[in-house]
Amino acid sequence: MPSPQKVIIDVDTGVDDAQAIILALSRPDVLDVLAVTCVQGNVDITNVCRNTLRVLSVCDRLNVPVYKGCEKPLTGEGPDATHYHGRDGMGDVANPEPVDMNLIQSEHATLALLRLVNQYPGEITLVALAPLTNIAVALRLDPDFGKKLKEMVIMGGNVQGKGNTSPAAEFNFRSDPEAAHVVLKEIGCPILLVPWETCADNGQSWTWTENWLKTDTRKGHFQNSIVQYSIGRLKSANRSHYRSCDLLAMAFIIDRSVATETEEFYGEVEMSGSITRGQLVCDWRKVMGRKVNIKAVTAVSVEKARVLYDAMLL
Ligand code: RIB
Ligand code: CA
Repeated sequence: MPSPQKVIIDVDTGVDDAQAIILALSRPDVLDVLAVTCVQGNVDITNVCRNTLRVLSVCDRLNVPVYKGCEKPLTGEGPDATHYHGRDGMGDVANPEPVDMNLIQSEHATLALLRLVNQYPGEITLVALAPLTNIAVALRLDPDFGKKLKEMVIMGGNVQGKGNTSPAAEFNFRSDPEAAHVVLKEIGCPILLVPWETCADNGQSWTWTENWLKTDTRKGHFQNSIVQYSIGRLKSANRSHYRSCDLLAMAFIIDRSVATETEEFYGEVEMSGSITRGQLVCDWRKVMGRKVNIKAVTAVSVEKARVLYDAMLL
């Protein structure tokens, strides 16, 4: 058996980040989670850190170090996603388990990223499930940061111009377009992108989901409590399926065959468009003459993903 992949997970723990962390920690045979780095995104950085500790506690994995990162985008103010994840980012569940915030490491997340890639050059897969602020700052502190990564897996952006936060942009890229621009241009390691459209088009049926949420385990009960707020939002919007973007992105890392089709292209983030700010512009027709910088997952085996989702709650 190959040794587990070394991963660092960068999160803005909301509900789907929480699910992705549960999945990652459910497979120590496949993933060695070196650290979880937090960044402002779905909710403010304090709630992101608190929520991350709550998830680690439910998984009995408070030994995984959690680092606090950037509290704001590189420029301006990004949107938040409290309308979907709840004010606290975890579905505003009454009387959640308390956590000890002293467990947050004193080292800044970006400095931890720099230290770990120097400790394990070429070995770490950086899983980015949030705005890319921490990673962009790491590139400004060490221009070779990305070259010391094995690869990046990014949940974010879009490949057909469809947005979930604006008509044209996905949340993580719209939250910090400048950071996304810097990372796509300068990271210098392979990028596997899980775009919004792939997540939106490959959800789980409500029948399967409702059965999944009845899983009678500690992790199952925790998940069932934190998803109710966002499920209410999806159902009031008459969404035909349940989708969890970060969870799907993590599924690819555990089982690469979950991705049944990928496409490669040059992509760049629009930063100044009055209505397209944050959109990932994909040069599908290769008219820009730029080197390919992105491999995007464009088709998925939902069945293979479900196998992982069922097992993660046991
Ligand atoms: O667009 C979905 C992404 O934005 C997910 O990572 C979700 O957690 C939010 O960060
Ligand atoms: Ca996220």
